[in-house]
Amino acid sequence: GMMYFGSATDSPGQRERAGLEAAYSKYDEIMWKSGEFGSTTPTNGMKWLFTEAEQGVFNYTEGEIVSKNAKKAGQILRCHALVWHSQLGLWVRNVTWTPETMRIAIVDHIEKVAGHWKDECYAWDVVNEAFEEDGTYRKSIFYETLGPEYIELAFKTAARVAPKAKLYYNDYNLEWPNKKTEATQKLVKDLRAKGIKIDGVGLQAHMMAEDHPTLDQHIAAIQGFADLKVDVALTELDVRLTLPVTEANLAQQKVVYANVVGACAQVKSCIGVTLWDFYDPFSWVPYVFSGEGAAGLWFEDFTTHPAYDGIIDAL
Ligand code: XIL
Repeated sequence: GMMYFGSATDSPGQRERAGLEAAYSKYDEIMWKSGEFGSTTPTNGMKWLFTEAEQGVFNYTEGEIVSKNAKKAGQILRCHALVWHSQLGLWVRNVTWTPETMRIAIVDHIEKVAGHWKDECYAWDVVNEAFEEDGTYRKSIFYETLGPEYIELAFKTAARVAPKAKLYYNDYNLEWPNKKTEATQKLVKDLRAKGIKIDGVGLQAHMMAEDHPTLDQHIAAIQGFADLKVDVALTELDVRLTLPVTEANLAQQKVVYANVVGACAQVKSCIGVTLWDFYDPFSWVPYVFSGEGAAGLWFEDFTTHPAYDGIIDAL
């Protein structure tokens, strides 16, 4: 059932690594013109930090760059992310919230941001990373102030202002059955039971070459969501490895990419795959996981990883 295969990308000003401007034209050609990708997501530009860095002051500049390029390229746009504990405006932590002022802030943020791109976004990650690994709610500023109600409020508001968009819950470590997948399934059921629209579950799929689930575990996790009649997508796929790059870890990486994409291809409700950038120098991985990298499919010199061929075979 796969409808798209795409890559997230950052607007040029936000690309993590300076000094690679010479690579931009080749990068942009692959991203927008080569036909490799049928969809995209802005890695940063639609997040709270960029869209509402100051309370009530909205800025769509960064998100617009990717949104416009996607439109020009005829690519499906997945939009990311409306309510997330990370990359918030600093002000969010400085306000002394009451439940009522926080409800107003969440509704205002979603009305403005999801409203701004209501005709552009095929899908929205409405809530991102709301659970801990043990399936309990993450103690974010939103949860601490409102409890699980903030999730309902976010989905209800998104459904109202962006009625055409598919509304997703998105998280990491949902790629094999575990406590977090169970909590996410329960969330889907609870929202549906209350008549609140949720259309999909996004499996971020930030994977590791050296330690990873099996193909069967991937299929079981995806099928577990599919059984609830929601769409499933791999939304932020990358497979990091422990540096240095060797033939051996590239071969392991190929297996991991092929397994997770293959699992998506085998379950009808798994509708698409998004790489969390395709070009190693623009990947977030080296900045966050020390000693790890080469998580994408294109090396710095624009040759492709063995995993590229692994994915073609798995599709
Ligand atoms: C990452 C971006 O890739 C980085 O550029 C940024 O500095 C931090 O965020 N889960 C998510 C994404 O949902 O938004 C994160 O993206 C990666 C983890």
